[in-house]
Amino acid sequence: MTTRAVEEKERVCVTGAGGYVASWLVKFLLLKGYMVHGTVRDPSDEKNAHLKKLENASENLQLFKTDLLDYEGSVPNPEARFQVDLIEPAVVGTRNVLDACLKAKAKKVVVVSSTAAVGLNPNWPKNQVMDENCWSDKEACKATEGFNSKDYRGSSVSYFTTPTDHHSRVLKTEALEYAEKGELDIVTVCPSIVIGPMLQPTINASSLLLLALLTDGHKTVEGTDRPLVDVRDVAEALLLVYEKPEAKGRYICTSYQIKMQALAHKLKSMFPNYSYSKSFTEDDYEANLSSERLQKLGWKYRPLEEILRDAVVNYEEKGILHKA
Ligand SMILES: NC(=O)c1ccc[n+]([C@@H]2O[C@H](COP(=O)([O-])OP(=O)(O)OC[C@H]3O[C@@H](n4cnc5c(N)ncnc54)[C@H](OP(=O)(O)O)[C@@H]3O)[C@@H](O)[C@H]2O)c1
Repeated sequence: MTTRAVEEKERVCVTGAGGYVASWLVKFLLLKGYMVHGTVRDPSDEKNAHLKKLENASENLQLFKTDLLDYEGSVPNPEARFQVDLIEPAVVGTRNVLDACLKAKAKKVVVVSSTAAVGLNPNWPKNQVMDENCWSDKEACKATEGFNSKDYRGSSVSYFTTPTDHHSRVLKTEALEYAEKGELDIVTVCPSIVIGPMLQPTINASSLLLLALLTDGHKTVEGTDRPLVDVRDVAEALLLVYEKPEAKGRYICTSYQIKMQALAHKLKSMFPNYSYSKSFTEDDYEANLSSERLQKLGWKYRPLEEILRDAVVNYEEKGILHKA
């Protein structure tokens, strides 16, 4: 780990602690000697049991029951769903966490956003690399299928992971305005599609990307160019921006851009016996995102082969994939 050593037990809070990204973050924080307060919706739920088994958890991890929203009732029409499924968890949840951070006089807040808040911008010049100045356009986001999908519903949290500043400037006003007003020291990290081994017992949405490639032999898969990043590298990025006092604003966190067909080919060369998709749709979209700003801060990412190997071995060990 490239970040600083913790001299005395520094206390940090990770919201949505049992989630895919957050679990790795909790693991790294505990390994570094931090005292971690994790918020989960149900501390006694089996799906959070892995947290208590992490190294140093018995002394340094406390879980607290917290729901970021008081959200009830069904929402019939798509426009309202958009508001309630995505914007409210993001805006209300972020505001609640930030208010709590203000009250607790938090030293620093790291918000997990997404490259979905960066890359859906039809007005960005083609061929120009998308950097932190690029903000997704709200209408373009609404028009994309993924936006209303439940993949992005339970955006998570924290002094580390919070409901994201997803997809639009909406949350700029909710998260970064706190920072602009000088009320809180806030940094946002925008990961691309997160893959790699899971610590949590249940499959999270983005892990389905690899799982589908390994098992969907008979299906046609979208041949899109995907920006990818390893879950451990995302957790390291969150730690890095937390620990570096000079970290400010937004950081894109992505390491590879690869067409799904090429990804399947790579996986097949490493694990030849799975039932790989043979048919891919044509798509000329090219992701063009840069993590140069994060790399300048000291972030490094692991090789793609290592990510894929560790992910597949993890799925096999968990019994999600039956060794072919
Ligand atoms: N995975 C990716 O590819 C990816 C890419 C870019 C950005 N992100 C962002 O990174 C963050 C973490 O993603 P992830 O993949 O780790 O997601 P995940 O595994 O689904 O974890 C989400 C966490 O948020 C918690 N949560 C959701 N709604 C909540 C609420 N109302 N109150 C309290 N907790 C709530 C969930 O708790 P329960 O277990 O109780 O549901 C879960 O622990 C999210 O904000 C996501 O949008 C993820």
